[in-house]
Amino acid sequence: MDFNRTVLVTGGSGFIGSHLVCSLVNRHPDWRIINLDNLDYCCSRRSLESIEDRANYTFIRGDVCNSRLVNHIFNTENIDVIFHLAAKTHVESSFESPSTFQRVNIDGTRVLLGAAHQARHQLQRFVYVSTDEVYGAGLDEVFDENSPVRPSNPYSATKAAAEYLVRSYWDKYKFPIIITRSNNIYGPRQFTEKVIPRFLTLLQSNKKCTIQGTLPKSRHFLFVDDAISAFLLVLEKGIVGEIYNVGTGCEIPIMQLARELIRMVKNVPDSEVNDWLEFVPDRPRVDLRYPIKCDKLQQLGWRAEVSWAEGIRQTVKWYQDNPDFWSDASKDERPNRSKLENTPSK
Ligand SMILES: NC(=O)c1ccc[n+]([C@@H]2O[C@H](COP(=O)([O-])OP(=O)(O)OC[C@H]3O[C@@H](n4cnc5c(N)ncnc54)[C@H](O)[C@@H]3O)[C@@H](O)[C@H]2O)c1
Repeated sequence: MDFNRTVLVTGGSGFIGSHLVCSLVNRHPDWRIINLDNLDYCCSRRSLESIEDRANYTFIRGDVCNSRLVNHIFNTENIDVIFHLAAKTHVESSFESPSTFQRVNIDGTRVLLGAAHQARHQLQRFVYVSTDEVYGAGLDEVFDENSPVRPSNPYSATKAAAEYLVRSYWDKYKFPIIITRSNNIYGPRQFTEKVIPRFLTLLQSNKKCTIQGTLPKSRHFLFVDDAISAFLLVLEKGIVGEIYNVGTGCEIPIMQLARELIRMVKNVPDSEVNDWLEFVPDRPRVDLRYPIKCDKLQQLGWRAEVSWAEGIRQTVKWYQDNPDFWSDASKDERPNRSKLENTPSK
């Protein structure tokens, strides 16, 4: 079959990547979707089982830092579009092994940019999926795309460095890049090191939600379907060379999040909610909040459509319906599991 477009998604087996791949495969049977992923510890093969046999889907297990492999893909496939999501993403681990984060997040982006730029087939778009964390914490400030970049942990520093690499290809070659910076994305199939699935899996195994430190941390949460619709809109209508914030006004204090999930999962009266909280020491330095403005993306016609009430309802239901999803996934690919278990990220 001839396809109209070939889209390479890196990190397509991860949380956001798997939702993006499923959406592309289902919405565009006339597009060929190639997923390049090395199946790191945060992946489950089950995330893509609904589409793995589809004619317009191809999986390549491999490392984005492997320039031979990446060059080979660009020499043998006519890639039109790249969504680059492959990354190391757990903030706490980035303090423990910053060099791994530099290798994957920065070198991986360099390898991909170099191969895409040198390919004979002309690329239409290189969408780099970055994060609001590159702004650093904003106490009273609300960040727009022109705000200074002040990353405050090794993860966000590598994402910011990769952004600069991506932008240098626009500045130097007018290579058709677009960067997105999104809020905390949540939804079904997110690995249990991130805060919402972490709280849910603790509660489901009758353990307490661990609250780090005493500072009033909050996060802006964006449901994964809304994030995917933003990425697809940016692909079609975004202006090359531009950066787009992707977020919501839905700011939830972490303590409120824990209480809400306790009520939903444990079904306890308000007087018993605190019994399911446990206070633990803080991480070395945690940004309190990341407020962003999304006017630029809204001018393209994007609105978040899934309310917090609906998004969290769907998410809780998915974890309740799939309690063994992550415990069944291959454990031997996961380093330092016990160490990571007390450290929810973002
Ligand atoms: N989750 C969020 O809230 C959020 C918010 C903003 C931006 N992002 C960005 O979105 C992207 C995806 O995030 P996620 O939450 O789905 O993360 P994730 O950890 O679930 O997925 C990362 C994916 O990258 C793959 N990967 C890691 N190293 C690789 C390598 N060397 N070669 C090939 N593949 C590799 C992993 O196997 C995994 O499939 C990341 O770039 C992240 O920085 C995430």
